[in-house]
Amino acid sequence: MDNVRYGIVGTGYFGAELGRVLNQLPKSAVTRIYDPVGADRVAAELGCTAAADIAGVTDSPDVDAVIVASPNHAHREPVERAARAGKPVFCEKPIALSFEDCRAMLEATSRAGVLFMAGHVMNFMHGVRAAKRLIAEGVIGEVVYCHTARNGWEERQESVSWKKRRELSGGHLYHHIHELDLVQFLMGPAQTATMVGGNVAHRGPGFGDEDDLLLITLEFAGGRYAMLEYGSAFRWPEHYVLIQGTAGAIRIDLQDVGVELRTPERSERMLLHRTREEDEDRKRFYGLGDRAMDGAIMYGDPSKRPPLWLRGIMEAELRYFDDLVRGATPDAEFAPLTDGSAATAAIATADALTLSLREGRKVAVAEVTG
Ligand SMILES: NC(=O)c1ccc[n+]([C@@H]2O[C@H](COP(=O)([O-])OP(=O)(O)OC[C@H]3O[C@@H](n4cnc5c(N)ncnc54)[C@H](O)[C@@H]3O)[C@@H](O)[C@H]2O)c1
Repeated sequence: MDNVRYGIVGTGYFGAELGRVLNQLPKSAVTRIYDPVGADRVAAELGCTAAADIAGVTDSPDVDAVIVASPNHAHREPVERAARAGKPVFCEKPIALSFEDCRAMLEATSRAGVLFMAGHVMNFMHGVRAAKRLIAEGVIGEVVYCHTARNGWEERQESVSWKKRRELSGGHLYHHIHELDLVQFLMGPAQTATMVGGNVAHRGPGFGDEDDLLLITLEFAGGRYAMLEYGSAFRWPEHYVLIQGTAGAIRIDLQDVGVELRTPERSERMLLHRTREEDEDRKRFYGLGDRAMDGAIMYGDPSKRPPLWLRGIMEAELRYFDDLVRGATPDAEFAPLTDGSAATAAIATADALTLSLREGRKVAVAEVTG
């Protein structure tokens, strides 16, 4: 395939930037977009046509591949339509808010034999790839425990984003599925899921209805464990993935940005992103110390530009998707990311966790997956 023509469904903060990145890739261009709000302005910027509805993107003869970046609850229809039209599809995270929807999307894309890539962009961070390589080489032995935190504080907002409404975003766990996905990439699918938590500090006007504090325990085959914390009720912000192996440990720090390896023989610090400049940019963005923030409040405005470090990983993942659309074979590292299976496994575990919280018990993930 020579030129690849992209259609985008949902061109808000993130979809518009995905479009800018695609327009900069060689021999790629955005030709059609659909967004119920403000599409004409984004279409003018991207040099493409604003369609009247989703089908105007997915079914258009001017579109070879589809990007889905609408709100989390609205991904299933465009993915299924793209599949029916026989087009490869890239879908932002979380791909859906239930295992049932994921399964339907997987069935549609696998029946059509089209690529179904999830926008789990963390997998494209330089330091995350380095950590995975070290683990595959056996440098830290067997991974027996992971601990992640994605914790910040949310101030009262003038208007409440869809990202803060559980029905539309899924709340912190689904909206920030990245850490759960990474842990399962490292440890395989969780067998049991336990979650406690609730909305402890964000009730009333100016707040959504999501739980602001979630504490998760996962059990894996062979006596291995993970604990994950999520929320916006934390005045002391933390964002990290700590990987404990039998021969060493790796800490991916997304706040005091960098990746650290420690074994009895080695102690090394690596970049998280591609360059020192991107790492420094991320440090500034997070604002260490008392400037705690909840990243889920960025929304709704295509003229807001993502920070340098985020544009870097968006470029890496879209370049990868673009190569696959042109016929490249997926790397083994990313294969579960490009057939929808990793994203579906993450949502299955998230659904088990949701059930655990609701019913106050430990839940086998198999209860969800059947
Ligand atoms: N990978 C990441 O790091 C990352 C970062 C930000 C957002 N995202 C994901 O990107 C998606 C979009 O988030 P955002 O930050 O751009 O939000 P946003 O609110 O800025 O944009 C969403 C856009 O979708 C439009 N929209 C609403 N309903 C729609 C529908 N049914 N069909 C098509 N468009 C519709 C809205 O008008 C809006 O312009 C979400 O799934 C989000 O989780 C991913």
